[in-house]
Amino acid sequence: MSLSPKYFYDDLGSALFEAITRLPEYYLTRVERDLLATYGREIAGALDGPLELVELGSGSAVKTRLLIDAILERQSSLTYHPIDISADAVTESSLALAAAYDRLRIVAYAGDYFPLLRDKRLVTHSRVLVLFLGSNIGNFEPSDARELLQLLAAARHPGDGLLIGYDLKKDPSILELAYNDPTGVTAAFNKNLLGRINRELGADFDLDAFRFRASWHDEHGAVESFLISERAQHVRIPIAGIGVDFAAGESIHTESSYKFSREEIVALAKSCGFAEKTAYTDAGGRYALSLLTVV
Ligand code: SAH
Ligand code: AVI
Repeated sequence: MSLSPKYFYDDLGSALFEAITRLPEYYLTRVERDLLATYGREIAGALDGPLELVELGSGSAVKTRLLIDAILERQSSLTYHPIDISADAVTESSLALAAAYDRLRIVAYAGDYFPLLRDKRLVTHSRVLVLFLGSNIGNFEPSDARELLQLLAAARHPGDGLLIGYDLKKDPSILELAYNDPTGVTAAFNKNLLGRINRELGADFDLDAFRFRASWHDEHGAVESFLISERAQHVRIPIAGIGVDFAAGESIHTESSYKFSREEIVALAKSCGFAEKTAYTDAGGRYALSLLTVV
């Protein structure tokens, strides 16, 4: 059985994700923030402006401020389009940004970015830089990641940019520790999926009867996350009108976090209509940003 990771992000799930970003073991957010702090100005100047910013899965949009600052050094105003399935995250981040920047116009979208792009509902007026940060691309199965990049390329104009942040393949023990954090925040983030089904669909999942485990799967190139039923149990989900039986040891696949080489990202992007302009990586080779343009 599997559940889509897009359901992680109710209000509590978004807050738990923010806590994950502060864990010492979860280096991804910190390394990406440092890359944006170092190269933000260069990125902001790499495309012919003036720019508009679109962000897929913007979350708290804290790191985005580094790019907003860099862009506002070059132009008098900026329109920012955050898109996030978590209405709470997009509302809170937009209110905070509106309070902090008087030269920023925000057009926020609360929802899944696939239908938004498929239905061409994203309206922009000038050169666009799309941000797809936080290794979000890693949470999509390869065919979905490809569809998303193709939709983006089709929705944009030649010369528009896509800044994609991704976690690089590395020693599996470092990757596994980033997800099996000893504080247990990632386990809580995963169990909240079941808690959310209880709250929103009236289900009776016993969260204590599931244990969390994430492991590296070399053949997929991903860390895969599971909630494992500790005992045989029956769960009722009244609002969905179903009941589910779990055997002892049966698992629910909650998330894949794909890791990439730069070559893999460039090949994928190229096959979807993008060309790489520049890539930025940290000295430890843990994480990368690729600035791509629509061909
Ligand atoms: N970009 C932020 C947040 C990453 S967490 C960062 O780098 O820290 C992933 C974010 O993507 C969450 O805020 C989640 O709500 C959002 N998200 C996940 N799947 C989504 C989808 N299909 N459509 C829109 N937003 C999605
Ligand atoms: C948002 N996404 C890229 C995170 C990841 O690393 O796959 C979500 C996450 N899951 C567990 N920890 C963080």
